[in-house]
Amino acid sequence: RLTTSPLEGARLGVLGGSGLYAIEGLENIQELEIDTPFGKPSDSFRLGTLDGMEVVFLARHGRNHTFLPTEVPYRANIWAMRSLGVRWILSPSAVGSLQEQVRPLDMVVPDQFIDRTHQRPLTFFGDGAVAHVAMADPFCLTLSRLLADVGESLMPDGRQLHRSGTYLAMEGPAFSTRAESKLYRSWGCMVIGMTNHTEARLAREAEIAYASLSMVTDYDCWHGHHDSVTVEMVLANLRANAQLATKIVRETAKMVADIRPVSTAHNALEDALLTAKKHVT
Ligand code: ADE
Repeated sequence: RLTTSPLEGARLGVLGGSGLYAIEGLENIQELEIDTPFGKPSDSFRLGTLDGMEVVFLARHGRNHTFLPTEVPYRANIWAMRSLGVRWILSPSAVGSLQEQVRPLDMVVPDQFIDRTHQRPLTFFGDGAVAHVAMADPFCLTLSRLLADVGESLMPDGRQLHRSGTYLAMEGPAFSTRAESKLYRSWGCMVIGMTNHTEARLAREAEIAYASLSMVTDYDCWHGHHDSVTVEMVLANLRANAQLATKIVRETAKMVADIRPVSTAHNALEDALLTAKKHVT
């Protein structure tokens, strides 16, 4: 663990979701194959520079989209990111909307999640090493604010960036039933997706500041006047938004390079460890 290393020289990670299998503008790219105690990550990492900032890109589903949300090796992905010196992660990902005013092609920077997954490992701890990290604010507030500020300034007319909202994390791979979709609406959730909460939890344990750029592609299946979500719908709207998402990530990366924002996530383990630190160093 490198918790005492200063953030000077730390890198920014980008976890690209469906439709975002590379990052435009990344230069001097090195391909890195990383192995971890949790197995192999989804793909090789692409380390390069984006406007002067060192950025590490990983396609979370693999560049040919071969991992189901349940199968994504989340622990290996986050572990490898941290081992490459990543202390901030931006995660552009597709989501469905659970609210009328959150429209397809809008963006959301969620500030909360509710976990309905049930088939994936959610911690690096265990086997004698016990820690309970704080999760009251599961996404990094500082990085999320930067991302939202940048995103808001770049949204085209008629499209909105929502600066907060609850992300419902579902297991998949099938989309929700209408009853489930209506239940999540009744819980006040704003968007639904299959990956971001798992990464946010593991990133917190790895002391990485994590923020999600949730790109709205559909109205899931609760809306009486819109068709229920299909993969085709998700991909079409992602393609329509890919350039904007890349621009937002790129501009945010620049801000991170300038500001190097410090997050409470960067020492999340300080008050979280029950067992002696030697177990996790
Ligand atoms: N990703 C994009 N749209 C989705 C939806 N409606 N449910 C779950 N994940 C999604």
